[in-house]
Amino acid sequence: MKITGISGSPNSGGNNEKVIDMALGMAKEKGFKADKIFLSKLKISPCNDCGTCRNIKDCPIEDDMAEVYEKLETSDAIIVSSPVFFGSVTAQLKALFDRTILLRRNGFLLKGKVGGAVAVGGSRNGGQEYTVNAIHSWMHIHGMLVVGDVGHFGGIALKPVESDEVGLKTVKDTVNQMCETLARFK
Ligand SMILES: Cc1cc2nc3c(=O)[nH]c(=O)nc-3n(C[C@H](O)[C@H](O)[C@H](O)COP(=O)(O)O)c2cc1C
Repeated sequence: MKITGISGSPNSGGNNEKVIDMALGMAKEKGFKADKIFLSKLKISPCNDCGTCRNIKDCPIEDDMAEVYEKLETSDAIIVSSPVFFGSVTAQLKALFDRTILLRRNGFLLKGKVGGAVAVGGSRNGGQEYTVNAIHSWMHIHGMLVVGDVGHFGGIALKPVESDEVGLKTVKDTVNQMCETLARFK
């Protein structure tokens, strides 16, 4: 079974990529396959509501989204980590979310996949919970099985993440919950 991690940060080597690398390392230790989508390395344009994907499973925008569709479709679970930008996800991540309407319109292809969310902010109360909520909304609208960190909503972290012991525990608890949920389907 495969877990894919998405970092919504434009920064290569930043806090969200560290979080996803840690999460995928944990998943691999538990015997899962891992894949990643780092938006610092991809060009994903926003959806322009052309309607093409209502009729065929294709998007006329020429960018890196084909690779993202393939990775998401072949995943059993998806963990998404976003920086908090003005209390929500980054524009880069929102563009990816909107473009996945193609997968929804062509058979709800993310339905039943396990989902977990993480948000990293520059402030302690900078909007991490709102950001996690925005990620969960995307997952619910796809019919995914959303899990939290058992106690609360998911990973809530403060930059620099390596010094945020409390925040990292919420990330680890979310990954463990995702892996335990997936193991039920094995
Ligand atoms: C445009 C912009 C808006 C931001 N808004 C917030 C915010 O509302 N709350 C917050 O805690 N941090 C905010 N930050 C700080 C980022 O969340 C922080 O730098 C990010 O978690 C870094 O992640 P990265 O290292 O993976 O890029 C903002 C940063 C930028 C550039």
